[in-house]
Amino acid sequence: MQEEAEKKDDMIRCTKSLKRLSLFIALCISISFCLILFPRLSGKTKKNLKIKAKPPSKRDYIDDKLHDGFFVHEFDASYQRKNFSEEEIQKPRVFLGNEKKIKQLHNECVPLDTWGGTTPICIYDPQEDRMISAFIKDKRTWEQNLLNATSAILLSHPELTFVDLGSNIGAYTITAAKLGRRVFAVDIMEDSLTLLKHSLDLGKIRDNVTLVLNAISDTRSQFRVNVVEHNIGGSHIKEIDAVKDKDIIPVQSILMNDLLALNIPRNVFVKMDIEGTELRAFQGGGRFFDQLNVKYLLMEWMLHRSKAKTAKAIIHFLLSNGMLPYRDHEQKLPLPHGGYVYWPDNVFWIKR
Ligand SMILES: *[C@@H]1O[C@H](CO)[C@@H](O)[C@H](O)[C@H]1NC(C)=O
Ligand SMILES: *[C@@H]1O[C@H](CO)[C@@H](O)[C@H](O)[C@H]1NC(C)=O
Ligand SMILES: *[C@@H]1O[C@H](CO)[C@@H](O)[C@H](O)[C@H]1NC(C)=O
Repeated sequence: MQEEAEKKDDMIRCTKSLKRLSLFIALCISISFCLILFPRLSGKTKKNLKIKAKPPSKRDYIDDKLHDGFFVHEFDASYQRKNFSEEEIQKPRVFLGNEKKIKQLHNECVPLDTWGGTTPICIYDPQEDRMISAFIKDKRTWEQNLLNATSAILLSHPELTFVDLGSNIGAYTITAAKLGRRVFAVDIMEDSLTLLKHSLDLGKIRDNVTLVLNAISDTRSQFRVNVVEHNIGGSHIKEIDAVKDKDIIPVQSILMNDLLALNIPRNVFVKMDIEGTELRAFQGGGRFFDQLNVKYLLMEWMLHRSKAKTAKAIIHFLLSNGMLPYRDHEQKLPLPHGGYVYWPDNVFWIKR
């Protein structure tokens, strides 16, 4: 009996160690499998990628020292633009001021510090316009890093005319005008242009500034202005509702191309802050980019990060017009255009 029991015990021990052994062997096999398989797999993937990434016919290489060679901008000249015929041109509505309006607006004019010196800027009631007007009243500036960059660009490029699309009450326009520049400022809000004109008059810097009361889009039609409560700078255009909007004063939209009717000098720096309608502006701006030399373009990117379709179309349009995206105006920090989701709130596009 005892012998048998011992035999049984031995058998059990034996099967147990056999099981352990086979487990161990299985483990060894799978590990070596992994070791053999994965380097090969990744090697293969790399090879495939290399084959796929054939250089396109035209390419732009940014200075390797600046970006460690990790990124190459591809240049694609195949972008198809919409064609707009000449006779359609819609004359921009040049705004000459509204003396009655300036008295109606509950406004005050406060100092704005610029690189050309301090000059008045007339603001909305800061209780009402809590974003921009309130900030300027407290800090005597707005988006100071960008205003500084704008000033630095203008000072180092005396040939540039400043085109301010979506000027609002004109922190940028006033800054450029104070530096003695020719400026074209466009906005959808008559009140904002009224305040801006008043600021320019007070600062005696109105001579070289043209104010335009229009929306910039890809069609020439009429829109309703949607004023955003507590943030007048966030106002934007909306399709007109035939019933609800029958008593409103609409704003006329024009194409960016139509601005050429103002005889803008050839070399320009465009600042664009038009609340999400940038792609539409570009779609109506092919001739603007052809006829003028847009050397710098500063645009808000915040709204485009999450919109792949428009973001890609904007990138495509600007690359095909010879512009490259940067985080800074000194071209030290190029932005990989595939990574537009991570681009900063504002992007500098600079002519190659
Ligand atoms: C636009 O016009 C140009 C010249 O007039 C023409 O060559 C081109 O094919 C047109 N493009 C489209 C998309 O119609
Ligand atoms: C902008 O420039 C002014 C004047 O040189 C300077 O005092 C200020 O610190 C600058 N601001 C930023 C955010 O760079
Ligand atoms: C307007 O431009 C002219 C020519 O560049 C310049 O001489 C003049 O000082 C400018 N005017 C103002 C008010 O900046």
